[in-house]
Amino acid sequence: MTLRLRPVRRADLDMLERWWGDPETQGYHNWFGFSPDGQLRRRFEQDGLLGEDRGNLLVELPDGNLAGDVSYHAVYHGPNPGSRAFNIGIALLPAHRGQGHGSEAQRQLAAYLFAHTRVERLEASTDVGNLAEQRALERAGFTREGVLRHAQFRDGEFHDMVLYSRLRGD
Ligand SMILES: CC(C)(COP(=O)(O)OP(=O)(O)OC[C@H]1O[C@@H](n2cnc3c(N)ncnc32)[C@H](O)[C@@H]1OP(=O)(O)O)[C@@H](O)C(=O)NCCC(=O)NCCS
Repeated sequence: MTLRLRPVRRADLDMLERWWGDPETQGYHNWFGFSPDGQLRRRFEQDGLLGEDRGNLLVELPDGNLAGDVSYHAVYHGPNPGSRAFNIGIALLPAHRGQGHGSEAQRQLAAYLFAHTRVERLEASTDVGNLAEQRALERAGFTREGVLRHAQFRDGEFHDMVLYSRLRGD
């Protein structure tokens, strides 16, 4: 048995609010500051965190424990709908890192998005120093494309990011 992805339920919201508001849970490479109070609940009321352009799924282990969440948001490489791609992300709880869940969860998210949307291209970008995520993406079938210089402002400075992609036919 392996992990599975599942939608966020109303009963998960308190927990998710705690995760997203805690720098240690998010991890050094994934902490961008606090979110306004109520923002998560407003998003949940709008689309259950399964929006057309943005969404989140929880990572559930075979024993029922939750290991973290994965996310997607739309990015456009042209003004037309056909140039829409998804950028994916992940945050595992500290206790569940380093056990291969990162690659499996992102592999499953890619399969889910290709199965339920028409996008051709998935992307993921991560800090040049986040070697675990780079390796996890490679194991999930993503290809390294290059470095985006000073693309992300985090923790008081700009960071270079490595860009990965996975195409529908890969
Ligand atoms: C990044 C993250 C998703 C990786 O998932 P994970 O389940 O912890 O990683 P895995 O167990 O799948 O390990 C991935 C690979 O990276 C390697 N790795 C782990 N830590 C490493 C490090 N510090 N340096 C080099 N390689 C490392 C592992 O050995 C493994 O390689 P292998 O398959 O060749 O053995 C997870 O650690 C996490 O959620 N971290 C906090 C949030 C975050 O950084 N999210 C990504 C932001 S873009």
